[in-house]
Amino acid sequence: MGNNLLKGKKGIIFGALDDRSIAWKVAEKCFDEGAEIILSNAPIALRMGAINSLAEATRSKVIPCDVSLNEDMNQLIEQSLEHFGGKIDFVLHSVGMSLNIRKKNPYTDSNYDFMHKTHDISAISFHRLLQTCFAKDALNEWASVLALTYIASQRVFPDYGEMADAKSLLESIARSMGYHYGKAKKVRVNTISQSPTMTTAGSGVGGFDAFMNYAEKMSPLGNASAEDCANYCVSLFSDYTRMVTMQNLFHDGGFSYTGISNEVIESVKP
Ligand SMILES: NC(=O)c1ccc[n+]([C@@H]2O[C@H](COP(=O)([O-])OP(=O)(O)OC[C@H]3O[C@@H](n4cnc5c(N)ncnc54)[C@H](O)[C@@H]3O)[C@@H](O)[C@H]2O)c1
Repeated sequence: MGNNLLKGKKGIIFGALDDRSIAWKVAEKCFDEGAEIILSNAPIALRMGAINSLAEATRSKVIPCDVSLNEDMNQLIEQSLEHFGGKIDFVLHSVGMSLNIRKKNPYTDSNYDFMHKTHDISAISFHRLLQTCFAKDALNEWASVLALTYIASQRVFPDYGEMADAKSLLESIARSMGYHYGKAKKVRVNTISQSPTMTTAGSGVGGFDAFMNYAEKMSPLGNASAEDCANYCVSLFSDYTRMVTMQNLFHDGGFSYTGISNEVIESVKP
């Protein structure tokens, strides 16, 4: 049982694919904290069917939306307003996809059609979401909008490929939209920079096990789990963080500010 931190709040959660997805854990926690939610994912992901058990457990409606399509985004926001009978209090954008990584194209031999699509799905979609909400005045004052990102946006992790560029753009969109939406409607917009987490999207990155082990050894608190991330999202959707906006918030057990750890020193000793 939760603490009713989100009692009376209504939110949309994008990106729950299966029970390893970060969005899946966020949906469960938001429900436990008293929120009413709508789950959304690309039509192709919904066909896998796993989301139905989450929808049942969280008594939520499922609305399809390919985040790269304006029409889908329009319909999702309109149907959400209708379903809730009012405006929205929080949104989680937990969407990422790299076509070049999927096709195993090296960063130095990227296909540009794929790159456009990657940036559209993984970053520009966040702008599309916020712009659609803005146009329809779909968010309540003090609403909280979050997207998930990774530190490869700021430091090079070679196998993260074009997703590093997509995440840089995503974080920038959060700042810019955070400014405009904050001024106009007191809506806050942030990104959470999460530890590597064993999910479908995560494990698509080359050498992911090594990534996870390295981060675990480097972080004073160890890697943050998907459940930990869900708790952090709840706090940012709640009224206890009303003045936090335009931030990229590290949720990584201290990884981002650690130069080197004793464990890593041991492992590289000559
Ligand atoms: N797993 C990690 O190590 C990690 C670390 C930091 C940040 N993140 C970010 O967290 C977010 C969630 O990823 P995850 O790790 O839970 O993996 P996941 O594979 O469970 O989630 C990714 C989701 O994106 C959805 N998606 C892909 N294309 C879409 C489209 N066109 N329209 C709508 N939805 C689409 C997928 O269906 C899936 O549900 C992503 O932004 C990811 O980059 C993940």
